[in-house]
Amino acid sequence: MEWLHKSVLLSEVIEFIGLKRVGTYADLTFGEGGHTEALIKGGASEVWAVDRDLSAVNNYLKAGLLGQDPRLKLHHRRFSEFPGLAGPQTFDGILLDLGVSTRQLISEERGFTFQKPGPLDMRMDQTQGPTLRELLERLSEEELADILYYNADLKNSRALARKILNAFRAGQIESTQDLADCLGKRTGKTHPGTVPFMALRMAVNRELDEITETLPKLIDILKPGGRLVVITFHSTEDRLVKTVFKRLAGRCICQELICQCTKDARVKILTKKPVEPSPEELSQNPRSRSAKLRCVEKFQ
Ligand SMILES: C[S@@+](CC[C@H](N)C(=O)[O-])C[C@H]1O[C@@H](n2cnc3c(N)ncnc32)[C@H](O)[C@@H]1O
Repeated sequence: MEWLHKSVLLSEVIEFIGLKRVGTYADLTFGEGGHTEALIKGGASEVWAVDRDLSAVNNYLKAGLLGQDPRLKLHHRRFSEFPGLAGPQTFDGILLDLGVSTRQLISEERGFTFQKPGPLDMRMDQTQGPTLRELLERLSEEELADILYYNADLKNSRALARKILNAFRAGQIESTQDLADCLGKRTGKTHPGTVPFMALRMAVNRELDEITETLPKLIDILKPGGRLVVITFHSTEDRLVKTVFKRLAGRCICQELICQCTKDARVKILTKKPVEPSPEELSQNPRSRSAKLRCVEKFQ
């Protein structure tokens, strides 16, 4: 099988996760396994990995370099389910490389891309959960506008939501191509469907809820001194990770006159500013351009 996904910020992940021999690590967004392979080749004694996409797990087990390797424990799971699988203080480092893989993005039958006609699906896990079609069937105009606004900062969210739902209810949106056409024609560098498609994908997969719910629980399963590394691909996600990290570090996030925060510090922030791809990586992998890495270390 041909691997399509180029792992981003590979050497930076290894550096920030503090890879050491006889260490136990978790890769909670396995994808095509690039980061896991780098961790194992770098000396990790064990890597627990999950992906909510069953085909990602199966493709790898069929074809992957480490398919039979006892150091790899690979499961089909959402990362929000992961803390329940592991005991407290198990891991030296945990990685989340958020979003979708190149394989998911370009496979038209998954419905993530506006560049080819595909079904109104967009689920990372095709074994469960509502598809994009089911979401559009039940959302009100106001709810859809909120999704477009809160997931992707789209300023014209109300007008966009009205346009999408009117066309959908009139039977004019049967495929991702119809949805893209409804959102407009490409005039400049980016297609007007790019950001709305991302916002809808995030809603179908409840991506922001997964992050908010999971990050604090991951600190429980890190060993003292263990590190959590998160890579995001757009500003809404990065802002959320930054806020959760600040809260975990005991910093004020409430912006009230009299601070309401608990200030219970469990981690130290190791990346004051997010780490971004080097010019070399950008030239070899333009898809890495929006990647931002943040890292915290659990107190001893
Ligand atoms: C950007 S790709 C990861 C690529 C991977 N690091 C590599 O090097 O091949 C993101 C992957 O995370 C998975 N994913 C996203 N959200 C998830 C979640 N909440 N739980 C488990 N897997 C998730 C997606 O299905 C996708 O395969």
